[in-house]
Amino acid sequence: MSARPWWQTGVFYQVYPRSLQDSNGDGVGDLPGITSRLDYLAGLGVETLWLSPIFRSPMADFGYDVSDYEDIDPLFGTLADFDALLAEAHRRGLRVILDFVPNHTSTAHRWFQEARQSRDNPKRDWYIWADPKPDGSPPNNWLSYFGGPAWTFDAATGQFYLNNFDPSQADLNWRNPAVKQAMFDALRFWLRRGVDGFRVDVIAAMLKDPALRDNPLDPNWKPGDNPIWRVRRVYSEQAPGIHELIAEMRAVIDEFPDRMMVGEIPYTTDPALQVSFFGTQDKPEAHQPFNFAFIMLPWTAPVVRDFIARYNAAVPAWGWPTYVLGNHDQDRLVTRIGAEQARVAALFLLTVRGAPYIWQGEELGLPNGEVAPEDFQDPQGINLGISRDLCRTPFHWNGGPNTGFTTGKPWLPIASTYRTLNVEAEDVDPRSSLTLYRRLLALRRAHPALHEGTMTLLETPLPVIAWLREQGDERFLTLLNLSDEAHLVSHSTLGSGEIVLSTALDREGMADLASITLRPNEGVLVKLG
Ligand code: NOJ
Repeated sequence: MSARPWWQTGVFYQVYPRSLQDSNGDGVGDLPGITSRLDYLAGLGVETLWLSPIFRSPMADFGYDVSDYEDIDPLFGTLADFDALLAEAHRRGLRVILDFVPNHTSTAHRWFQEARQSRDNPKRDWYIWADPKPDGSPPNNWLSYFGGPAWTFDAATGQFYLNNFDPSQADLNWRNPAVKQAMFDALRFWLRRGVDGFRVDVIAAMLKDPALRDNPLDPNWKPGDNPIWRVRRVYSEQAPGIHELIAEMRAVIDEFPDRMMVGEIPYTTDPALQVSFFGTQDKPEAHQPFNFAFIMLPWTAPVVRDFIARYNAAVPAWGWPTYVLGNHDQDRLVTRIGAEQARVAALFLLTVRGAPYIWQGEELGLPNGEVAPEDFQDPQGINLGISRDLCRTPFHWNGGPNTGFTTGKPWLPIASTYRTLNVEAEDVDPRSSLTLYRRLLALRRAHPALHEGTMTLLETPLPVIAWLREQGDERFLTLLNLSDEAHLVSHSTLGSGEIVLSTALDREGMADLASITLRPNEGVLVKLG
């Protein structure tokens, strides 16, 4: 038994419910579909499933626009379907965390429907309203992440409401105690039902400057750059008080034993900002603040090594790192760094010290799908041309019709790679990406050094990165060649060891660490004697 909690030692797997498995032929994945695939997920060797939003929603932002925090959207099923999924997951030793979206509700939520009735409606102050400027323009220069101003005019009441994302996603006013109460009660609703925790959407955005000051312009922004970065989001999020508010949310989670929350904090490569969302040991905030650095940084040895060193130094002793290589908002790993290095990245992800997050389909080595601009569904894609649909296309089960995802018309086109990159084909291929993930996950689970041991970065000539993981008398060495040339590595003080896995899945056995050659794009895991 480990002394560490499950959310530190286990591997997380992000399920995108719309795209995992459809059970009723409507072309959209659903909860019974997920339940029918739990054997696959448990067999993969992950410990925790994070389900992207499944609450009631008009789906303008595919569930990140919630219209009822205490119900399942009929597209995904019913509360009974959810209870069945949770029970079946738990029976297989899998935990389940839900996506909680506190920053905004759908404008279809009954709270907003009431709020927009009149300026003196009791729910008015549940959202953020402001008068137009004298010329009728929005109250300040804040910009939506999906393009255009972050304000939408409500003609009936003559004020703007704030929407940091889609106009149908109205930002809640977390300074109103009644909002806090209602949202915390929604968390309790699911915690009582037995969920193991939450991934909390844009957690740092919940508080904005009460004076609604203009954001400063970004001096580095040039015409042609993405217009949403024209301003630096200094006042429209992360306002003073945010850490106290997150700590209050954490206290709600802590009312229930053994639950956790992982915060979607800002995308940043600044470890100090990342770890600030752990809070303090007396006043903890997120159990895990997401570390998105490896989505943002170039995949080169000096950069990767340097970030790991700085991040390890910044994470408090009572905290625990996280590593994320992809999610439903980003280009897929293979598209970003190529199929060969994606295998090296898998060894990185699953042997580095911290909680790994696997994005659905990463284990199959999937690149982005293909979606023509006229078929874009994602509001960000429609408005800005940068479509998240490409990473959200249906999961690949087999080489048959619609890759086994649906008997109907899939909500996004199936990617053409499904013919070779699918579970059925990769299952029987001893060198496939799926086989690599399964082997790595099994090794990680079997060896405490890999899931909870200490980590020491070694001095190695770049572009090879090396580290040791140690626990008790177990010692593992990870060697990663981040280049496409062979490199001879020498760690003579380590003696010899046994290669237990190469990312090429074609060699094992004893190796002399005084002289070991890594082939191009190869990583190896060595068990030291
Ligand atoms: C972050 C989520 O990951 C993204 O998908 C969503 O569009 C925004 N937050 C708004 O909720």
